[in-house]
Amino acid sequence: MKIIGTGSSLPSLSVTNEMLSVFLDTSDEWIRSRTGILERRIISDENLKDLAIEASQKALDDAGLTGSELDYIICSNVVNYYVTPSISCLVAGGIQAACPCVDLNAACTGFLYCLDMAAAYIAAKKAKNILVVCAEEPTRMCSWKDRNTAVLFGDAAAAAVVTEGDAFRASRISAFHRPEVLYYQRPLEDCPFVKYQQRGVPLYMNGKEVFKLAVNASTQGIENILADTGLTADQVDHYILHQANMRIIETVRTQLRQPPHKFPHNIESRGNTSSASIPLLLDEMHRNGTLQYGDTVVLCGFGAGFTTGTCLFTWTMNE
Ligand code: UT7
Repeated sequence: MKIIGTGSSLPSLSVTNEMLSVFLDTSDEWIRSRTGILERRIISDENLKDLAIEASQKALDDAGLTGSELDYIICSNVVNYYVTPSISCLVAGGIQAACPCVDLNAACTGFLYCLDMAAAYIAAKKAKNILVVCAEEPTRMCSWKDRNTAVLFGDAAAAAVVTEGDAFRASRISAFHRPEVLYYQRPLEDCPFVKYQQRGVPLYMNGKEVFKLAVNASTQGIENILADTGLTADQVDHYILHQANMRIIETVRTQLRQPPHKFPHNIESRGNTSSASIPLLLDEMHRNGTLQYGDTVVLCGFGAGFTTGTCLFTWTMNE
C-alpha cells in the first residue's frame, strides 16, 4: 500500500487560551505550559460532515482520482450529529462515490486502525483505491464547564487516499481494557422497558494516567515497529505522533534520543483533534514540502480504550 493523496479541512473559528479564560477558571500560562496549546479551531457554524467532504475532495484531487474511482471509504469518527447513517456514507454522497462505506471508532488511534484495515483489504485484492478520512469534533463531548478537558481539544477533518504499492512496511494496532481512564457516555432515548436512566456523562479523563499510558504505549509501539522493520530510530526521518500534549511528544522523543526536528507538531495551533491529528499534520507536512520522496515516516497514536497503533512507511509522493 502507498499514500497517493492527502487533504484536510478546518473550522474557521480560532479560539485562543485567553478566550477560554473568560468563562473557565484557567489561564494561557497554565494551558501553554501543561499542554503546548496556544489556540485551537472549533466548529461554530460549519458542520463536521462538510469538513469531512472537503478534506476528502482535496485528498482525491491530490491523488488525481475522482470519487467514482474509489473502492472503499473508511471513516474514523467518535461522535457526530448522525449516529446513523454512518458519516462515511454522507461523505460518499458529497464526493460522488458509489462504493462500500464504513465508520470505525478507535478513538484517537483511528487513523492507524483505518490504515491497517485498508492495507488488509488491498492485500486481499478486495479493493484498490481506498479513501481514509478522519473527521472529529471532540469539542462536542466535553463539558464546557470542565477546565480539565475543555481546554485540550479542537475539531478537524483530514484524509488520505491509499492504493496498491509497497511503501507500507509495518503496522501494529492493539487495544487493552482501560475504559475508566477516558470515556464519554451519551444520552439515549427513553424506552418504556428500560428500568434505569442513562443521561450521559461528558468526557471524563484521568489526565495523569492517560499521560503515562500514552508515553509507554508510544515508546513501546515505536520500538516494536523498528524491530519489525529492522531499522534503528536514527534511520527514521519523521515521527508523526498523535497531537495530544507537547509534553508527551517531548518525553517520547527524549526516550528515543532523537532531535526535535524529527518530531513535528501542530498542537500549538490545532489542539488535540482526536484521530484527525495525525493525518492533519501529515497533510500540512506534505503541502509545505517537509516530506521528501523516499523519507521514512513513523505514525504513532493512542486513545480511549486504551487503543494504540504504529506504522512505518516510505513517503512516495513528490518524486
Ligand atoms: O487524545 C486523548 C488523550 N489525552 C491525553 O493524552 C491527555 C494526557 N494528559 C495530559 O495531557 C495532562 O495530564 C493534562 C494536560 C490533562 C493535565 O496536566 P497535568 O500536569 O497532569 O495536570 P494535573 O492533572 O496534575 O492538574 C494539576 C492542577 C489541578 O489542580 P489541583 O488539584 O492540583 O489543585 C487541576 O485542577 O491543575 C488543575 N487544572 C487546571 N488549572 C488551570 C486542570 N486543568 C486546568 C486548567 N487550567 N485548564
